[in-house]
Amino acid sequence: MQDTWLQDTQLGKKPREGFSSSVGVIAATLGSAVGLGNIWKFPYVTGQNGGAAFILIYLIAALLISAPIMLSELMIGRKTHANAVGAFKTLAKHEPWFLVGVSGVISSFLIMAFYSCVAGWVFSYVFKAVAGTIESTSPQQTFAVFQTLVNGVGEPLFWQLFVLAFTGTIIMAGVSKGIERVTKALMPILFVLLLIVDIRSLTLPGASQGLKFLFQPDFSKISISVILAALGLAFFKLSVGMGTMTTYGSYMGENENLPKTVLTVMLSDTLVSIMAGIAIFPAVYAFGFKPDAGPSLLFITIPTVFSSMPFGRFFMILFFILVAVAATGAILSLLEVPVAYIVEEYKISRRMATLGTIMAIALVGSTATLSTTLLSQMHIFGKNFFDLYDFVTSNILLPLGGIFFAIFVGWRWGFEDMFEVFSNHGRLKNEGLARIYFILVKFFAPVAIALVLLTGLGFIQF
Ligand code: TRP
Repeated sequence: MQDTWLQDTQLGKKPREGFSSSVGVIAATLGSAVGLGNIWKFPYVTGQNGGAAFILIYLIAALLISAPIMLSELMIGRKTHANAVGAFKTLAKHEPWFLVGVSGVISSFLIMAFYSCVAGWVFSYVFKAVAGTIESTSPQQTFAVFQTLVNGVGEPLFWQLFVLAFTGTIIMAGVSKGIERVTKALMPILFVLLLIVDIRSLTLPGASQGLKFLFQPDFSKISISVILAALGLAFFKLSVGMGTMTTYGSYMGENENLPKTVLTVMLSDTLVSIMAGIAIFPAVYAFGFKPDAGPSLLFITIPTVFSSMPFGRFFMILFFILVAVAATGAILSLLEVPVAYIVEEYKISRRMATLGTIMAIALVGSTATLSTTLLSQMHIFGKNFFDLYDFVTSNILLPLGGIFFAIFVGWRWGFEDMFEVFSNHGRLKNEGLARIYFILVKFFAPVAIALVLLTGLGFIQF
């Protein structure tokens, strides 16, 4: 089958928009991966699951399961140059595979519901940092500020809508002029800033205890629910399992080295997470916080670290701006999944598709934002809306989506067709790597994910 991109050009149709350079490809893909998952979620989930042993399992899951599936997604996208649903329709006509894409579109709404809420907290912290209201080395004080924010109604809702309007505007600008340009400019600054916080954090009194928590594994802390959490995080943090990478892959050109892109993104993403851990855990011990504080962890520890250093307010402002930027890059990739789907499958303008999408997210998202206040009585499976969206997506829908992406490549596509894309039509000499990758997606990943899912959710017992 010929690439649809080529066909379009030959037929004289306007070619589909895409990323304009290899640097842009890495920036956008990394921009999708690096986000609140690294800076907010990774530290707090690590804190709740006992530290270093959890991180070790996370790394194994990321390398052997999420990374190969990320590559599968990118290849399916680049082969078809279509959105998550359209890609499957192209590769497997009249077969139910497109439902994997549909499930991805649904997941995107559920993730965005709580993600936009947390991003709203981050944006509001930028302004609080400017106003000086979060400047304090007292844990009670920083905790009180956070509580006031999340226990409000108007304030968190306002910031959530702000985030949606802001990111929606960038999405409307398009793939290369919007997504690519914004992520390329800001990723490097985030890195440097994390480095500065790390240095301050490492020189706090008692920093070593935090490092021990991060790097000295205690295997007695491992249980099946810890393993499920690690697997879920490996999907979430790398934006894998719902078609984000399929969509981004569809914007990549025939000369991009996809396996290399995946490795670069995975390693950088891991580095950013570890740096976020180093920024936070020494402070946890130095200032008497608890590592298992949950979603509030970032918001209560970071202000204390900055408040205890010279020019603290300046760096604090910069830090929250960059977390906001990281969240923005990730949100763009989450929004792009439904937007590309609606634009291409229903021939609706990019503007209208974006508008409809963010309005729907605002609606679902408000239930997450209000889950500890107006809706605090509502529980499903013992969880409020916020926790429910988070749990269902990370620990069920993404791994499940991942299984199908892996099975599709391993069993439906097959080695020959896959290798065409893997090797850029034979131009890259990477058959050895392709063989390893193929075994991982054909056998290892689906079996491992299924076992963890079924045991973690209590369907089978050992
Ligand atoms: N990976 C992003 C983060 O760490 C979140 C994200 C963006 C995502 N796109 C996704 C998660 C697709 C799952 C699926 O913050």
